[in-house]
Amino acid sequence: MRPLIFAANWKMHLGPEGARRFLHSFLERHEALPDRETWFFPSAVALETVARLTGDRPAIRTGAQNVYWEPKGAFTGELSVGMAREAGAQAGLVGHSERRHVFGETDQETGRKVRALLESDLTPMLCVGEKIEQREAGETLGVVQRQLSALDGLGRDALAQIVIAYEPVWAIGTGKTATPEDAAEVHAAIRDWFTERGVSPETTRVLYGGSVKPDNIHALISQPEIDGVLVGGASLDPASWSEIVRVTLD
Ligand code: PGA
Repeated sequence: MRPLIFAANWKMHLGPEGARRFLHSFLERHEALPDRETWFFPSAVALETVARLTGDRPAIRTGAQNVYWEPKGAFTGELSVGMAREAGAQAGLVGHSERRHVFGETDQETGRKVRALLESDLTPMLCVGEKIEQREAGETLGVVQRQLSALDGLGRDALAQIVIAYEPVWAIGTGKTATPEDAAEVHAAIRDWFTERGVSPETTRVLYGGSVKPDNIHALISQPEIDGVLVGGASLDPASWSEIVRVTLD
């Protein structure tokens, strides 16, 4: 069994000093459990701090919230995979709904970022998810499949490295969560997509994200289709994040 992943997406919060204070408080109460990993996606400027302060904890990994696919050059404001890696990143978040819907990132661009991460042996975590009007129109699975098509052309071994985070856009930061059953249905479809391309269903990891909190983590993580969670708001408070990562499984 691959470990469950509890991933914190700090978005545009916590610089190096905020990250240091958070980890001081979180690590004090954190005990590694053998069935799970904790991942942090801090701001780019806090990557190095998080990687350094968690470096002696093998079940904690650090990742970049976004990367650019070119290795270097005149791309003002961008972060290359190599630079993220040098700062300690082991993973990279790609295609988060805020990247897609606030910054206009396309499926083609997410595909290039995934490939750039794979080429440097960083684990891509690709986010997919539908907007409310797409869900109401019954288009959820079609939208998710179109977003997954960014991975077309990758071989089985490459696909097996990728972690998917299913985050319905209408559930992000809104306090609304997909029911565990609704999430599980989309997760099963994502797993089928990978299975059809030769990746064994036990290998594919599909996380759920969108208003995950201490009071709904148990119901979500108890779904066999849900291999972990990607958490924004509730990952910014060391106490609620600790509660989430140590949820008891049935
Ligand atoms: P949220 O964010 O937990 O605040 O809804 C999740 C995410 O955007 O990854």
